[in-house]
Amino acid sequence: MTTPTTTDPARDLRTALAHQVAAPDDPWRAAFETVPRHVFVPSFHEQAEDGRWTTVTPDQPRYWEAVYSDRALTTQLTDGTPTSSSSQPSLMLEMLHALDVADGHRVLEVGTGTGYNAALLSHRLGGSRVTTMDVDPGLTGAAAQRLGEAGHHPAVRTGDGAHGVPDRAPYDQIIATCGLPSVPWPWVEQAADGAVIVVPIGWGVARLAVHGDVAEGGFLPGGAYFMARRVGVPVPDFASLERAGHRSSGTGTPIEAFHRLEFLVSVTMPGYQWCVWNSGDDGTGESLGLWTPDGSIARVHADGTVRQAGPRRLWETVEELHRQFPDTAPARDAFGITATPHRQWVWLGDPQGPSWDLPSVGGLS
Ligand SMILES: C[S@@+](CC[C@H](N)C(=O)[O-])C[C@H]1O[C@@H](n2cnc3c(N)ncnc32)[C@H](O)[C@@H]1O
Repeated sequence: MTTPTTTDPARDLRTALAHQVAAPDDPWRAAFETVPRHVFVPSFHEQAEDGRWTTVTPDQPRYWEAVYSDRALTTQLTDGTPTSSSSQPSLMLEMLHALDVADGHRVLEVGTGTGYNAALLSHRLGGSRVTTMDVDPGLTGAAAQRLGEAGHHPAVRTGDGAHGVPDRAPYDQIIATCGLPSVPWPWVEQAADGAVIVVPIGWGVARLAVHGDVAEGGFLPGGAYFMARRVGVPVPDFASLERAGHRSSGTGTPIEAFHRLEFLVSVTMPGYQWCVWNSGDDGTGESLGLWTPDGSIARVHADGTVRQAGPRRLWETVEELHRQFPDTAPARDAFGITATPHRQWVWLGDPQGPSWDLPSVGGLS
């Protein structure tokens, strides 16, 4: 592939991507054919195997190949950690389908990022019906400018999207492109009756319909690993955990169960992070480290020894899930979610089935 040089440098590449992700009769195909992703992603960051990041820019042929491929691209690093990205186009399309928009609908997007998704929505509905919000003023400033360059003028706001944007409500659809532990209640209050909310919860995407004081619906079949809504996560101190953490011998739940049950783990331990130590030399095998934003921390050794500290015994949650699902984990779309003013829960099969309560979104007054 060569670097395009004409005034509309990417038309052919854009058409090819649109045709790859969207069927000929797909109502979103024209948006993917028209909106120039390269305007919204003027550069991106790639991580090498040694962990180092490099920036890829339009003077490199692989920039064009990547920007018009079905790939998520990291667009912002903060202290070496990705804090914004342009999501994978096919996943964006799956979420846009789930929104079920029609002409005249009004949409709120939480997680403006590059502005590319806001441009797709504006192409389809008209900018006056689109509101997009990001917590990062640098991102919203750049996105508003790029949206203008591409001929779109949605309302672009800066702030914590969990609060919604009440002065532009009611919305017929609300879509989030950052991960949340549960549905922020202000969204339900700002939704029109019958509105649809599409939101990444844990490692899945839930689609809820709002009727009165209840929002309810199922998870989409595919997995989705969105960047979490930003909150500070303390770095765990595993050395002092080994010295002072509560020690137990565990109940024989293998570390493998943690990986197999990752969707339920992501729902029951919002914002969790993990790491492994492969200590092949001393013959002790893999051990797992696990921590959550509330300061809970656990380390599980291959011999079954568990060390835990903090407000929650994280490994006990994994053990409980393993007791419930000892062999296989149900598919994501077997689960659903119900949100009411007082309680939110993920359920298996139907709202009265086995359930797991969700925490409210932190930081909301
Ligand atoms: C995957 S990116 C969004 C991609 C974007 N929709 C696009 O088309 O480029 C996730 C975004 O969520 C934003 N975000 C994180 N926490 C947020 C919050 N509390 N409120 C609003 N946006 C937030 C991040 O700054 C980041 O830009």
